Amino acid sequence: MIKFTIITLFQEALEPYLKTSMMWKAVDKGLAEFDFVNLREFGLGPHRSVDDTPYGGGDGMLMRCEPVFNAIESVKAKDPDVKVIIPTPAGETWDQKMAQKLAETGTDKNAHYIIFCPHYEGYDERILSICDYKVSLGKYVLTGGELPALIIIDSVVRLIPGVLGGEQSAAIESFSDGDNIEYPQYTKPYDFRGMTVPDILLSGNHGEIKKWREEHSKKAK
Ligand code: ADE
Repeated sequence: MIKFTIITLFQEALEPYLKTSMMWKAVDKGLAEFDFVNLREFGLGPHRSVDDTPYGGGDGMLMRCEPVFNAIESVKAKDPDVKVIIPTPAGETWDQKMAQKLAETGTDKNAHYIIFCPHYEGYDERILSICDYKVSLGKYVLTGGELPALIIIDSVVRLIPGVLGGEQSAAIESFSDGDNIEYPQYTKPYDFRGMTVPDILLSGNHGEIKKWREEHSKKAK
């Protein structure tokens, strides 16, 4: 079982996705659990402020240390083993291998991760000292960590055995290891607007079909 505790100001942006399709099925089957900590509850002063202006000047606001540390520590107080992930463009680029590593920690045992979602123009650098994994989704900048959090969760949870159909997932993973993208697939009809299905797939020859699929697994760019 893998549990994700998401620290965010925007729970409402995340919840619908996690209550849909495979993520919801994973929860239903007891293979995943998601919960939220509202960062605002750890905000400072009457306005429950979580950000402030940068030392040295510059545009925008930065997330302050105190609310973030307090929110993370409130989770750690209940589970000292929890690991903290921060999505940041300055992190290590997320890939299938990293997703597999995390999924393994939640396969046949219990794993718990916090994902802290930064927002606004950035965060105080000292926040990184309480984070175990710094994860970038790629070389572009998003407005916050919510979309990366969903991508990280989705890519990990689908790898927990039992979330996808067992047989199907094994087949996908043997070809889709992050470098080799899945082979082309087809369903009915055989002929759609003159585009037909490769006949080998209708041949019933499993050896030849396997060979064809291996040959047609595309390399990720
Ligand atoms: N936050 C903003 N942009 C990001 C990115 N590319 N990856 C992870 N977190 C981010």
